[in-house]
Amino acid sequence: MLQGKKIVLGITGSIAAYKSCLIIRQLIKKGAEVQVVITPAGKEFITPITLSALTSKPVISEFFSQRDGTWHSHVDLGLWADAMLIAPATAATIGKMANGIADNMLITTYLSMKAPVFVAPAMDLDMYAHPSTQQNLKTLQAYGNHIIEPGTGFLASKLEGKGRMEEPENIVACLERFFDVQGSMKGKKVLITAGPTYEKIDPVRFIGNYSSGKMGFALAEECARRGAQVELVCGPVSASMQTVSPLIHRVNVESAKEMHQACLELYPAMDTAILCAAVADFAPESIADQKIKRTGYDMTIRLVPNPDIAAALGKMKKDSQTLVGFALETHDEAAHAQEKLARKNFDFIVLNSLNDEGAGFQTDTNKISIISTEGKEDFPLKPKAEVAKDIVDRLTQLVMR
Ligand code: PMT
Repeated sequence: MLQGKKIVLGITGSIAAYKSCLIIRQLIKKGAEVQVVITPAGKEFITPITLSALTSKPVISEFFSQRDGTWHSHVDLGLWADAMLIAPATAATIGKMANGIADNMLITTYLSMKAPVFVAPAMDLDMYAHPSTQQNLKTLQAYGNHIIEPGTGFLASKLEGKGRMEEPENIVACLERFFDVQGSMKGKKVLITAGPTYEKIDPVRFIGNYSSGKMGFALAEECARRGAQVELVCGPVSASMQTVSPLIHRVNVESAKEMHQACLELYPAMDTAILCAAVADFAPESIADQKIKRTGYDMTIRLVPNPDIAAALGKMKKDSQTLVGFALETHDEAAHAQEKLARKNFDFIVLNSLNDEGAGFQTDTNKISIISTEGKEDFPLKPKAEVAKDIVDRLTQLVMR
């Protein structure tokens, strides 16, 4: 719902600037309030008079008002807005945003923005496909911005080479969808596991895996955005992995046993759990208390099974609770996922395969199928933030039935 939402609309120097008028009209028709911030180049394509007539507000372009010399506060705009939309966004503006080059009012407003930011790129095909533009768009995504790509509504990982700005009605629909789900999980409690586990061999070595925690963190942010309180039980991930939402409470663990313990304690008070962590199935039978020294001979480490957290939660699950699992496979993917769905008592399982380029460990994207007793739904390769939306959409359908 856009009723009452405050939108900062950033307009840059593209021929698609005329479409901003249609965006403003639609936003206002849906009850939003719009404040335009335009770059100097944007004014070459569309006049501030037209824009202020449509928004009933003076257009902001300079740091100081030309009329009375008062200062336009980009900080205040950052606090005022419920969302910032930059449409059209040129390659130059996208580059400045990605690199923090605050040489105009639009970029300073962007850098001060507390609300979610949506970017609708507009340029020709070659500029869009250029590696520097692609890299800048990926950087913006990694910073949590939403990129609205023609044809998909959101940015696909392999940018298909369409640079023309998405149509105004689809841009407005993106914002509408975003606000529709905001707060829809208010009062719900969600347990999410993320990252790898480390199983100690000796004080300096461990058995681990390649999980970065990105998929689990994206799920945590998406649930929190919808108003849920999230317990994020997280294996050892890089220090750069930080949560944004205050609704996320992080519990750091190292081994599968520690993760198991934390989950057993938390799950009874939860409405749902999403088990995204890559948990080691085995751990060394014993941990050497001193560094194991080279002997020149072969060495054997005996491994014993770790607790299966998912199976344990599946057994504890009450009728009022749901449980979602992941399956990371390398062969016979669907069959293995089906088997885990039943054995671990999941309501549905999210399958990702290491055979799909851009899917699985460490990438910013994933390609998933959701499998339940009702069948299998395949999704295209998307940024992990978008994949999280698909998973949480399915979860809320299940809970609301
Ligand atoms: O962290 P990223 O780099 O973003 O990568 C994301 C991911 C690839 C780790 C993620 O998308 C994923 O697939 N997570 C599950 C990986 C996995 O361990 O799958 P599995 O098929 O081995 O396990 C099946 C399910 O049982 C999973 O929900 C897992 O969390 C759970 N499990 C497994 C073993 C165990 N001892 N306890 C468990 O709870």
